[in-house]
Amino acid sequence: MRFFRQTGSKIKRSQLVEFSFNGTTYSGHLGESVTVALAANGIITTRITHDGSPRGAFCFMGSCQECVLLIDGLRIEACQVALSEGLIVQSIGCLIAEQKAKGDENV
Ligand code: FES
Repeated sequence: MRFFRQTGSKIKRSQLVEFSFNGTTYSGHLGESVTVALAANGIITTRITHDGSPRGAFCFMGSCQECVLLIDGLRIEACQVALSEGLIVQSIGCLIAEQKAKGDENV
């Protein structure tokens, strides 16, 4: 396991790291939460519900579960994971791929 829980006090704004989300490489500041790094890269929809509704982070404090993603293969709240070099982040389920196939650039 390469990631650690977000503590809120270890963000290094001077150090950019790369991570991937659904196969695309992005960058963010070392130690910020994965959800914040995704939002800073313009990604606020991290999954699509069965009825087609876009979902993304809501509480940013580990309570709502709306930000749950696969991070290095573990299902976990992305707002509680500190960004580090090389994290592999994936949406849960196959609906994101379906939305991309439809041309939705926000997934
Ligand atoms: S945004 Fe609510 S648990 Fe992460």
